[in-house]
Amino acid sequence: LGRTIKLYDEVDSTQNIAHELVRNGAGEGTLVIAEQQTKGRGRMGRNWLSPKGKGIWMSVVLKPEIPLPFTPQLTLLVAVALCRTIRKLTPEVGIKWPNDLLVRGKKISGILLESSAEDERLNYVIVGVGISANLKEEDYPDDLREKATSLLIERGEPIDRAALVCDFLLQLEDLYELYRDQGFAPIRTLWEALTVTLQRKVTIQTAQGIEEGTAVAIDDMGALLVAKPDGRTVTYFSGDVGQP
Ligand code: BTN
Repeated sequence: LGRTIKLYDEVDSTQNIAHELVRNGAGEGTLVIAEQQTKGRGRMGRNWLSPKGKGIWMSVVLKPEIPLPFTPQLTLLVAVALCRTIRKLTPEVGIKWPNDLLVRGKKISGILLESSAEDERLNYVIVGVGISANLKEEDYPDDLREKATSLLIERGEPIDRAALVCDFLLQLEDLYELYRDQGFAPIRTLWEALTVTLQRKVTIQTAQGIEEGTAVAIDDMGALLVAKPDGRTVTYFSGDVGQP
């Protein structure tokens, strides 16, 4: 992965560039990376703050031969790769289901998977990764300052972004190979060891509203199982986990 690298100064979103490159024949492993995004996007239609030179804003093209419903497994795989990478720089990092990376309860990195499929067949996946590397407190708008952090804030010194990208790609490549050889089971075990979501009381916000319960497990598709106060166990395929 990352043997073809497209580096840009400013883009709307590295996701858009990656989609376009694939439509024009770009192969698996193509990496798009930008110093700045003017329309960086997050999960659930949110914006992603991507100031110039302060972070790692990148998208990787994957073409796994899996059925479309298995795509969420890849999200967890990417979270494990990212967590292992960030852990070397700030050891307190953990994964909040499905794929946010938190340090001391604050978000340091996010993952956005966008796939293209026809008739349940996956054509390709664009793995978008944002890492708040060298942002300072004052780079965040007021509403994010309480909720977000960066490697610079945690470590008190700027980090080498190129080395971080390189390490992440190696981790991702390793886990991707493991997934292709042995399926999701080993990835699930690794994810479980790195998460901060399981065995906790959680709120979960979905399109239907906010619900509460105890996060008990993930299943073999990567969905979250939540035990409800009334004794039922509910499976969530997506949603936003918070603390009650
Ligand atoms: C999230 O946590 O909501 C996901 C954030 C993903 C942000 C990255 S930055 C690189 C890539 N390009 C985008 O527009 N978004 C992703």
